[in-house]
Amino acid sequence: TWTMAGFRDVEIEKIRAQVGKKRVICGLSGGVDSSVAAVLIHEAIGDQLTCIFVDHGMLRTGEAEEVVTTFRGRFNIRLVHRDASELFLSELKDVVDPEQKRKIIGRLFIEVFEEEAAKIGGAAFLAQGTLYPDVIESVSFTGGPSVTIKSHHNVGGLPDRMNMKLVEPLRELFKDEVRDLGRELGLPESIVGRHPFPGPGLAIRIPSASITREKLDLLRKVDAIYLEEIRNAGLYDAIWQAFAVLLPVRTVGVMGDGRTYDQACALRAVTSTDGMTADVYPFDMGFLTRVAGRIVNEVRGVNRVTYDITSKPPGTIEWE
Ligand code: XMP
Repeated sequence: TWTMAGFRDVEIEKIRAQVGKKRVICGLSGGVDSSVAAVLIHEAIGDQLTCIFVDHGMLRTGEAEEVVTTFRGRFNIRLVHRDASELFLSELKDVVDPEQKRKIIGRLFIEVFEEEAAKIGGAAFLAQGTLYPDVIESVSFTGGPSVTIKSHHNVGGLPDRMNMKLVEPLRELFKDEVRDLGRELGLPESIVGRHPFPGPGLAIRIPSASITREKLDLLRKVDAIYLEEIRNAGLYDAIWQAFAVLLPVRTVGVMGDGRTYDQACALRAVTSTDGMTADVYPFDMGFLTRVAGRIVNEVRGVNRVTYDITSKPPGTIEWE
């Protein structure tokens, strides 16, 4: 009979046979797929693996720290953590168009990754957390085969440019199986059960506006409160993705005896099985008003909260 423990052992042998004594590098994003791939490969070849974590500065609160403590601290995996937030922010200065944001982030990501790979002397193999759905549907992840609605931020050009062969131990698995494998490997639930997060990160959650550190910090605070409330209510696992969006709108409000004129934000939560279609998560109104109250009271600079009730299609999950 097929078991996940059996799959793990077979894959470990396959990785050893493929890689031999050569070096492997793996781009780590903090997401489920690359995390599980990294830990599996580390079980197979130990210090022949180096992970490279390019931190673009557009992650959520605490994510970068969690990646570093989990991989270095808990698993003893060789990890290069490059804080490249200054570089990304300066190149994104005054950029408003969403596809432009994606292109810049994708290009810089590859540049920084190559730089860090060169510093450690390169590698013969590049590990990727490619899943079965990525293999069969390698066209466009959102718009179907003929229309690209949003270009995916990926590192598809890397292996050729850097003359590396691919190690893709998750190619036969679906998302839920990857999560099971991650648990089998001892990855914490906070990583294994994590909602999908787009490569360009919070940059595409500040729509119709340019990205600044101030806006990112504001959005991170709103997002952290929202997700904390979702977790406390026991709803995290019932939701495919939940996140906050910082809107380019200022609205009038009243706080105490004073008038405020601050930014509005939107909250989004959807259910989905593959991200291709999505339904709005039906929170009860008591939950939403509680979250809104906390956000407006605790985040200076935000004075209005809305809930996005658009399904996909016709909306997309992200706002950009
Ligand atoms: P949309 O917004 O197209 O998103 O409904 C579908 C899924 O894809 C994620 N997404 C991205 N992921 N790079 C990524 O790696 C991107 O540029 C990107 N844009 C959207 C989105 O979070 C959702 O899970």
